Amino acid sequence: MCGIVGYVGTRVATSVLMNGLRRLEYRGYDSAGVAVLSGGKMQILRCRGKLSALEALLAETALPGNLGIGHTRWATHGRPSDENAHPHKAGPVAVVHNGIVENHVALRERLQAAGCTFSSQTDTEVIAHLVDEALAKGPKPLVTAVCEALAQVEGSYAVAVVSDLHPDEFVVAKLASPLVLGVGEGEVFVASDAPALLEYTREVIFLEDGDVVAIRADQVEIMDLAGKPIVRAKKTITWTAAQAEKAGYPHFMLKEIHEQPRAVSDTLRGRLLPDTNDAVLGDEELPEVPKRVVILACGTSYHAGLVGKFLIESTARIPCEVDLASEFRYRDPVVGPGDLVVAISQSGETADTLAAVKEAKGRGATTLAICNVVDSAIARVCHRVLYTHAGPEIGVASTKCFTAQLAALAVLAIHVGKRSGNLKDADAAALISELMHIPAKMTETLQGLTGMKELARKHVHARDFLFLGRGTSYPIALEGALKLKEISYIHAEGYAAGEMKHGPIALIDDGLPVVVIAPLGKGYDKVLSNLAEVRAREGHVIAVATVGDKAIAEYCQDILWVQDAPHLLQPLLTVLPLQMLAYAVAVARGSDVDQPRNLAKSVTVE
Ligand code: M6R
Repeated sequence: MCGIVGYVGTRVATSVLMNGLRRLEYRGYDSAGVAVLSGGKMQILRCRGKLSALEALLAETALPGNLGIGHTRWATHGRPSDENAHPHKAGPVAVVHNGIVENHVALRERLQAAGCTFSSQTDTEVIAHLVDEALAKGPKPLVTAVCEALAQVEGSYAVAVVSDLHPDEFVVAKLASPLVLGVGEGEVFVASDAPALLEYTREVIFLEDGDVVAIRADQVEIMDLAGKPIVRAKKTITWTAAQAEKAGYPHFMLKEIHEQPRAVSDTLRGRLLPDTNDAVLGDEELPEVPKRVVILACGTSYHAGLVGKFLIESTARIPCEVDLASEFRYRDPVVGPGDLVVAISQSGETADTLAAVKEAKGRGATTLAICNVVDSAIARVCHRVLYTHAGPEIGVASTKCFTAQLAALAVLAIHVGKRSGNLKDADAAALISELMHIPAKMTETLQGLTGMKELARKHVHARDFLFLGRGTSYPIALEGALKLKEISYIHAEGYAAGEMKHGPIALIDDGLPVVVIAPLGKGYDKVLSNLAEVRAREGHVIAVATVGDKAIAEYCQDILWVQDAPHLLQPLLTVLPLQMLAYAVAVARGSDVDQPRNLAKSVTVE
């Protein structure tokens, strides 16, 4: 996610804004900019690249003034470039924004028809034009214009707005993107994340969804979109700056695990169309209904692909193969016209996936990237891109990018299913409705995962772990084992539960923790039989089970509960306890959770 800062008071605004943006650098960004007001005149500087590039611009053109807003952008709509960097200007208005304007295409078309000219590819620019449009209708407070504009916006936002018609104030608003106010003596700070403020104040107000705030140096007025005043309590932050970067969590990985409901919501945002029982990939349709889908990926993204096979085959009834990119590229693969090749990669830079998708494209396949990083190499190479909007993932072990990939694959499955004619309206409607409930179920599941420390302590000295699952739980068994290996350095294997009796059963004794993913639904009875086989050999069973399952306790020593979901969507929930288990074991063993040994966040070598 992008970083936002704002300031009004007696200090030099650029100095406060740049300090704040520097505090948010750890999150990653591709461009930066500031807008500062002085004597009723607004000046904007922005550019692609690091803050040092913006600093160089500021060294050439000083921006005097005690009121301003700033931004570090992590691209979502439109590639990283000078034009797409925030702030975005329309008439006397400049805006910085985090989040996604879902209806930006419709708004842009309406505004263009009304004579507005756009200078960026961003969804944000529509907000600047909407505020400008509201102000142009007649004199009014800036906050009123912002409310009129935001009333037309669907999606998520944290915005800060300045206008040179209102030289002493700026306005911020929040919906599903964080925003915090820092209140000093005769000065007010705003930031998307607390670390940007801590140097100046520890007295903060965390804004809630729907809040709009008119900010002057000596006055903060919080209201709702209808202008009704709201009172929010001040809090004193006691976190250190390092803790604040992680929103109070001890590690980025834990923070990112808890960000998953938001990440999945953002990936689904605007793409599910319950009114027409459909899903859209973006502005452009796929050129044809594929005869076959081939998914290429590595590591965790490969596991997402394995779940994708279930989603695509059962909704679209189109054959789907999933290949390790590192194998595909060296195999003289049979692929070509009529195939849709989907490259999944959170970083978009993985060398094997990039080479594999180039190979497929060269052989005439249509290619689609599912990536988290806008304008990354894989996104650029593919014919189409479906961006997951998980926000920057800092922990090397992928968590929120994985569940966002699953959400993107569900969107793709519905989209292709509808176009293949094989997904009936009623089934599409049911899947869409279930998907829309998933973020809330993820939150409930995460809240229910207590006692992880004690569980980790029991197994901190285990030499091996076995993870078992059937159907859509099999890829999750693989992912659970990978997570544990990556960060705790304990050897772990994921296995299809039905395969256990064909070999791994020989390993089972009282020293082997066996994690069995056993949600209610398809395959449940068979998994219970596998559980019984493990128990009969004294294995220590940790079951991942559906809340309300009364039978499971008899088969296992420990239970990690998840909320109920249909078989196709269970992975979005069942992976959560496995991520938490890996995290807890790694912490108990004193591993470097966020930077595990020998691993890199993007693997750009073969
Ligand atoms: O960036 P990608 O999704 O292409 O990365 C693929 C793998 O390198 C990655 O998933 C790796 O397995 C992670 N460390 C998993 O946590």
